[in-house]
Amino acid sequence: LGNDTLEIKDRIYIDGYDVIELAERFGTPLYIMSEEQIKINFNRYVEAFKRYEEETGKEFILAYAYKANSNLAITKLLAKLGSGADVVSGGELYIAKLSQVPSEKIVFNGNCKIREEIIMGIESEIRAFNVDSISELIMINEIAKELGKEANVAFRINPDVDPKTHPKISTGLKKNKFGLDTKTALKAIDMALKMENINFVGLHCHIGSQLTDVSPFVEATKKMMEFILKLKEKNIEVRDLNLGGGLGIPYHKDKEIPTVKDYANSIIETILKFKDKVEMPNLIIEPGRSIVATAGYLVGKVWHIKETEVTKWVMIDAGMNDLMRPAMYDAYHHMENAKVKGEKEKVSVAGGLCESSDVFGRDREIDKVEVGDYIVIFDAGAYGISMSNNYNSRGRPRMILTSKKGVYIIRERETFSDLIAKDIIPPHLL
Ligand code: LLP
Repeated sequence: LGNDTLEIKDRIYIDGYDVIELAERFGTPLYIMSEEQIKINFNRYVEAFKRYEEETGKEFILAYAYKANSNLAITKLLAKLGSGADVVSGGELYIAKLSQVPSEKIVFNGNCKIREEIIMGIESEIRAFNVDSISELIMINEIAKELGKEANVAFRINPDVDPKTHPKISTGLKKNKFGLDTKTALKAIDMALKMENINFVGLHCHIGSQLTDVSPFVEATKKMMEFILKLKEKNIEVRDLNLGGGLGIPYHKDKEIPTVKDYANSIIETILKFKDKVEMPNLIIEPGRSIVATAGYLVGKVWHIKETEVTKWVMIDAGMNDLMRPAMYDAYHHMENAKVKGEKEKVSVAGGLCESSDVFGRDREIDKVEVGDYIVIFDAGAYGISMSNNYNSRGRPRMILTSKKGVYIIRERETFSDLIAKDIIPPHLL
């Protein structure tokens, strides 16, 4: 399942807490994050990559991708577990620093970094800017010079590997906007080595998200190692190799996907093949989804039921503004009725927004649904709250954390006044 801290008995329990009780106590829609599941997910990576440190004597860094879920309680928890941070904006860098992530574990991604973000990154002495263009390199050098500092720079390579995932989340193909082809990267590295305020530290790639096959990772890793070998022939050493995002997760509960151990071993073995040829680099990965997705559940209360000629609609108070993935990518999220009744029926589950795409799933077999029941949407911990919005003037939901220590509110429900907090009425309309 991937949901280790979930139990389905007479009802659904997360970290031992009855979901119906939580929903009644904290209101709906409600995001529930399991601290114990995050720990399990994080530690799986650490365990699996220990071998890399043992066999190479180099460092392994897990830089959690903040874009998956940058709630402060979650980022704090991960920082305490020893995670680094992959940030893609000034806002995420601010949150990483607030969470006390050590600067040497922060990497900055993105293809359109702006001046203020570059200043923040340099002043925070981050481990690396993953530079996406020569234009960006030149700008970082200029700003570092103004500040009288050196900026650490890695280059994002576009390895032209097909990740075989959803086209909207593929990033490492020639046609995608990200990265530099190796020819341009060579030129960029030559330039970087001559720049006074640039410290060239490594290479980065990220081919896509929700990969459920390790072979594209292996192919990308091999291409990166071949490039490192090419640089070695030019006497250029690569300190860090960053392989981007992590493994996909089992959204479909009937499909097996590779384990983190399989993923880690195939990457490690691919790198080790080059052990006699090049100095082994430090290894960085930036998983987001596989750290938090399975830890998160979105719970919606059933307010109305409508039978039509084609389906039975179950209307819940969570909507596409809370979790955009189904509407945006036709993404599949497993669903269950929090009350287990032992009798299944086919229903379609919809949110209440005025959009036909505000549907969480069609014709799903779940336990018989009645008004007042709670629907639990699985694997909503990644790209859920972080992509949520206020469409239809709906406040974002409350988020709670369940853990061995207790249950905590980690994000308050947005109120009506939050919705208009940034709006300004010009004087003639007052
Ligand atoms: N590193 C870079 C440079 C990335 O662009 C991403 C994700 C990650 C790391 C983290 O990848 P992960 O381990 O989460 O697969 N909103 C989409 C996913 C977009 C992913 C964008 N980049 C979704 O809901 O499926």
